[in-house]
Amino acid sequence: MNKLTLKAYGKINLGLDALSKRPDGYHELSMIMQTVDIYDELVFKLSDKPGIRLTEEFRFDTEIDGEEGRMVGTSDDPESDEAQIDLSTIVRADHTNLVWKAANLLMEEFKPEKGVRIHLIKRIPVAAGMAGGSSDCAATLKGLNQLFGLGLSLEELQERGVKLGADVPYCLLGGTALAEGIGEKLTVLPDMPECVLVVAKPSIGIPTPLVFKYLKVYELEEHPDIYGMKAAIEAGDLNGVIHRLGNVLETAAIPNFPVVGELKQAMRDLGAQGVLMSGSGPTVFGIFPDKSSAQAAAKELKMRELAAQVFVTGPCTP
Ligand code: C5P
Repeated sequence: MNKLTLKAYGKINLGLDALSKRPDGYHELSMIMQTVDIYDELVFKLSDKPGIRLTEEFRFDTEIDGEEGRMVGTSDDPESDEAQIDLSTIVRADHTNLVWKAANLLMEEFKPEKGVRIHLIKRIPVAAGMAGGSSDCAATLKGLNQLFGLGLSLEELQERGVKLGADVPYCLLGGTALAEGIGEKLTVLPDMPECVLVVAKPSIGIPTPLVFKYLKVYELEEHPDIYGMKAAIEAGDLNGVIHRLGNVLETAAIPNFPVVGELKQAMRDLGAQGVLMSGSGPTVFGIFPDKSSAQAAAKELKMRELAAQVFVTGPCTP
């Protein structure tokens, strides 16, 4: 095999609870993860030139109208208007990219004779709480495992992946799962009940460490019912899922990034049965009763400029 193309899916969190802060700075979490049908693509090619060559392109279209979106985001100073920067400078095609780090990790360990060329096509919103970078990282571990014939099992890839990011083990798995520990302890769940989702990302990007920095884990007054959510999924009960949507990171993100709260309210007003921020945000998703109401809501969110990228999509199990 000389060439391979893989899709790297984004995720949303149906539930995200934080239990404590560990001495290493990471938080003990309990999360319900769900892949959605929004994906980046990675093309891997063996090369006679040793080492890694990474290129990337952005395809930030929306599914509702196919219009190209120009993406801007903020740096880690939310107060600063000066912080508006081009997101392509956050996701660079160099050694800072998780794709490069994943390829480097396997190539340092297994020292293949050939090199690899990787082309990354980005569609998943960046710095958005959708694990786009972690998913690209997971796809790279899978891709190089196949391309170089390394023969690593899923567990062996996950052991290496967690060194690069807490969500990488889940991204290697995909589908519906309970994630505990820092995100690496996984329990596979049955597929969540079918539904129509609007996934909307405002024009700002939020770095994950910043939201965790703002989180006051020991002062949380409410915790989402993660095990009730798990039971609702196991029972195929969409209403049970909708009533248990909850993410404690909203307490850290919404006061600092009000657009997240505005987007949630707008989605509710536009007919969503349940709305939640995904991961560390600022992406918000809404569960809608049908495709036509979801499409109408998505158009409205774009028109009001509450969101720069909007998708009408659904859960999927890759
Ligand atoms: O592991 P990853 O690089 O994706 O995590 C990004 C940041 O998110 C960490 O540096 C940490 O600040 C925060 N984090 C956390 N607890 C977790 C996962 C991430 O505090 N379980």
